[in-house]
Amino acid sequence: MSEASEGQVDTVMVEQRLFEPSEDFSRQARIKSMEDYQQLYDRAASDPEAFWAEQAREHLHWFTPFTQTLQWDNPLAKWFIGGTTNACYNCVDAHVAAGRGDQLAILWEGEPGDQRQLTYRQLQEEVSRFAGALKQLGTQPGDVVSIYMPMTPELAIAMLACARIGAVHSVIFAGFSAEAIADRNNDAGAKIQLTSDGLHRRGKVLPLKETVDQALAKSPTVEKCVVLRRVGNDAPMQSGRDHWWHELVDSVEADCPAEPMDSEAPLFILYTSGSTGKPKGIRHTTAGYNLYAKRTFQWVFDHRPDDVYWCTADCGWITGHSYIVYGPLAAGATVLMYEGAPNHPAEDRFWEIVEKYRVTILYTAPTAIRAFIKWGDEHVDGHDLSSLRLLGSVGEGINPEAWMWYHTKIGGGRCPIVDTWWQTETGGIMMSPLPGAIATKPGSCTKPLPGIRPRIVGEDGQNVPQGRGGMLCIDHPWPGMLRGIWGDEQRYQEQYWSKVPGMYLTGDNARQDSDGYYWIMGRIDDVINVSGHRLSTIEVESALVSHPAVAEAAVVGKPDEIKGQAIAAFVTLRTDPNEELRQGLKLHVRQEIGALAQPDDIRFTAALPKTRSGKIMRRLLRDIASGKEQTGDTSTLEDFSVLAKLRDDEE
Ligand code: PRX
Repeated sequence: MSEASEGQVDTVMVEQRLFEPSEDFSRQARIKSMEDYQQLYDRAASDPEAFWAEQAREHLHWFTPFTQTLQWDNPLAKWFIGGTTNACYNCVDAHVAAGRGDQLAILWEGEPGDQRQLTYRQLQEEVSRFAGALKQLGTQPGDVVSIYMPMTPELAIAMLACARIGAVHSVIFAGFSAEAIADRNNDAGAKIQLTSDGLHRRGKVLPLKETVDQALAKSPTVEKCVVLRRVGNDAPMQSGRDHWWHELVDSVEADCPAEPMDSEAPLFILYTSGSTGKPKGIRHTTAGYNLYAKRTFQWVFDHRPDDVYWCTADCGWITGHSYIVYGPLAAGATVLMYEGAPNHPAEDRFWEIVEKYRVTILYTAPTAIRAFIKWGDEHVDGHDLSSLRLLGSVGEGINPEAWMWYHTKIGGGRCPIVDTWWQTETGGIMMSPLPGAIATKPGSCTKPLPGIRPRIVGEDGQNVPQGRGGMLCIDHPWPGMLRGIWGDEQRYQEQYWSKVPGMYLTGDNARQDSDGYYWIMGRIDDVINVSGHRLSTIEVESALVSHPAVAEAAVVGKPDEIKGQAIAAFVTLRTDPNEELRQGLKLHVRQEIGALAQPDDIRFTAALPKTRSGKIMRRLLRDIASGKEQTGDTSTLEDFSVLAKLRDDEE
């Protein structure tokens, strides 16, 4: 291994397995072969504006056609200028108008086992009514509506109702604290709050309205609050400010048509955690985002009208926005929504749901897959998963061994896996296999989607040689890209567009292999520098996870006088810990990827600190490994006790 030059990252991972799509799958797919993919990709690359203009004309409904495709004043992009459309119309009314009103739009299962289903026509009626209710409360186009609700159909209805009247939604995952809601409400200047009396989680009822009341005490811009009755408790209601959802919708007409909205009218704000404490409101707009979510959904999930598609994310994350609501519904899909936890009442809940609804496409996260592996195969066995035809993964790198388990145990060896790489900022999937066309390799997100031009560069902004890791950038605007950070345009410019001039900086490292496949190597800030060799977290973690005793692993660098940094690994096990295993794991990594990557320190832990969306928070582990006080923001941490426990182990 040679000394890495500035900004480059070494690779130590060798993954040779290759899975071709089956002939059967390819024959029925929208994009059937590598040649089809390449043709589409090349057409988009040769003239991205013409490509996207054609896509937009064909795949969105226009009240007024656009007159210019792109205005690019780096880093400010505007797409489909002069046009008016409506994201809610594209997702709902367009299907009813086309005679598909009886198609199922949403299948829903509550955690306690209650069920509902809505056709596109019923969805139109419910959305229309709630849009009317929002208007009656005085909501104007451009007003920000803060949504803190459980995963019920009404959460999707609320988002679509905002889009229908041009209000901007800001969905806050219903596990955040009152403080976090208030911060986001204040940053966005939210005017209306939507919530519910409570939610069901692992058999308990959480009183959401009480949390919201605490938040609203510190959210001076919020004037009205609408409360959905979900659990039937005695939620406190403040007269004049608070209204019951069911009472409001009963008092309005069902007919509230979709407003023609400018292509660039803001559609939503979605807060992501920055490394500094201040919440970062990613701003997405109407036409470009909606088009991008729809087309990427159709390409990546190879959607057919009879599919039952289940994305297990929460609408509080971008995955829920793009691949529960705006993508699949714009494509006229039947979307399954589940309210609760994967292990309630037992660890087989997901498989029970797949069996019950005959789910054909399942899209979930590596953190869930690793949990299923840890819980044991017996929870999968005995369920009929034969309806599944395609599997997806999102949110983190999927370690090759977790990929293999997903492939064999859940997919029965017959379902392609789409490992989708993207970000809140990108609005939709940027790199992923197209399942009928691109052979997959466990751990690789394979190829860019049409219209996306990735580059891997070093500190000097030049392309790194093939096979080396570097900073992943995107070198041309795309319709789904963020349009800015709410209220902080300078931060937008600095964070995404300054380090490598003219290119969007993703913040991830990646490498490209000799087949042109992309491998994400983790966040730039997480790189570990051992004796001048810059190593990626994902590669060392994947080596650990390939050991049969390991359920999950996170590696970080800690200061080392001789090597600069030494590798500390935090490991959760499928078996009981012992000293022999610790040594065995070190040797295992040495054998798998080499002496350089062998962890100096392995700590067994019952759980890893994660964000509420399930990502491992390596930043916090770094502080623990180096014995530092926690300084950064911990508001996105899911379970504080995990951190406390890790700190205690330290003492
Ligand atoms: O580091 C990458 C990782 O998640 C980041 C984006 O996180 P977020 O904005 O929360 O969006 C999550 C849903 C798209 C990326 O910068 N990430 C996401 N998907 C993958 C991934 N890392 C590796 N492989 C993936 N498939």
